[in-house]
Amino acid sequence: MKDLAGKHIVLGLTGGIACYKAAELCRALIKDGATVQVVMTDAAQQFITPITMQALSNRPVAGSQWDASEPNNMAHINLSREADAVLIAPCSADFMAKLAQGRADDLLSLLCLARPLDKVPLLLAPAMNREMWAHPATQRNAAQLQADGATVLAVGGGDQACGETGDGRMLEPQELLEDLVAFFQPKLLAGHHVLVTAGPTYEAIDPVRGITNLSSGKMGFAVARAAREAGAQVTLVAGPVHLPTPRGVRRIDVKSAADMLTATVNVAEDATVFVATAAVADWRPAQTAEQKIKKDGSGQPPMLEFVENPDILATIAQSPRAQAAELFCVGFAAESEDLLANSQAKRLRKGVPLLVGNIGPATFGQDDNALLLVREVGVESLARAPKLELARELIAACARQIRAKA
Ligand code: C5P
Repeated sequence: MKDLAGKHIVLGLTGGIACYKAAELCRALIKDGATVQVVMTDAAQQFITPITMQALSNRPVAGSQWDASEPNNMAHINLSREADAVLIAPCSADFMAKLAQGRADDLLSLLCLARPLDKVPLLLAPAMNREMWAHPATQRNAAQLQADGATVLAVGGGDQACGETGDGRMLEPQELLEDLVAFFQPKLLAGHHVLVTAGPTYEAIDPVRGITNLSSGKMGFAVARAAREAGAQVTLVAGPVHLPTPRGVRRIDVKSAADMLTATVNVAEDATVFVATAAVADWRPAQTAEQKIKKDGSGQPPMLEFVENPDILATIAQSPRAQAAELFCVGFAAESEDLLANSQAKRLRKGVPLLVGNIGPATFGQDDNALLLVREVGVESLARAPKLELARELIAACARQIRAKA
């Protein structure tokens, strides 16, 4: 799946040590399906050569508004008319100041000013020393640029090339890629707060052992990412999994079903959508031994007693806000057979407006999946595809169903 297929990106580089990351970014954009036209300022060319960027983008780099090789000699018009977005990475403090003032004395600032505002979005990835970033002038310029319709992306924090530590680093290429991909997604859930549970739970038997399951958390993490891309505020309550947190998503790590219930009930108070993808353990040991249970030499294994875990989805679905349709609840069903009948029965049992069925053994740990969307009226089948693609379709389906009810 190439998220940027068909997109033409003008990638602008301005002066900063983060130019070395722009080479990797260029590769990442192209690998994700985009065509990339690089434009470099003179200052950027002090940090990385146009040859490097030409080789990576497979196109000559544009650098001067006086380049006579353009037949109409209007590189700024040509470049800005064919772009789906202009991304400036790195964007220096000086360049932000220049853009904020609407100055246009080099090709890159010229094309930014000349771009059709309603058709060609401008995204800036600031990169500078922490003092420069924190300076009121830079913050004022950032606010002005946002007010003028540009998207000023976040900065990273940590060690800086100058030896100082703080905010102002350019985001990593993969983070910028994720932000750009998200930018192009329709904002179907803007204004919503989406709560997602994901992964397995772990029910301790003693300090070193427990029961869990093979859920990878991938589907839930994909749903959280897709909801964020759709413009929602997102909280992800995650069982023990080692997956990176999608950008812009608030993550709460939990272990047991009881912890997951507490976190979920808290967040659900102001969520508007709840998607339960977690594979919550059905039972937990009635007691957790304080010390490791040892073999006693009798040859008899210990007798473990189990109690049933709370049903998180059913609990939330019965809450007053869910009953009043202020909180739209979505459940998942991992079945091994008869997907339609089992999913329909589960939708009624859980009391949710949308139940998503999938075949458990065919999806656990996989990067792709196939889903069956079961509502009170009507069933929709989403063909096998990468989990992120399905998650986007599911989020769109939720948005449609919420709008239809409103
Ligand atoms: O009953 P079953 O485990 O098959 O239900 C699956 C759905 O219910 C999933 O959405 C899962 O996240 C949710 N669930 C839950 N709490 C449980 C069990 C399941 O939220 N204790």
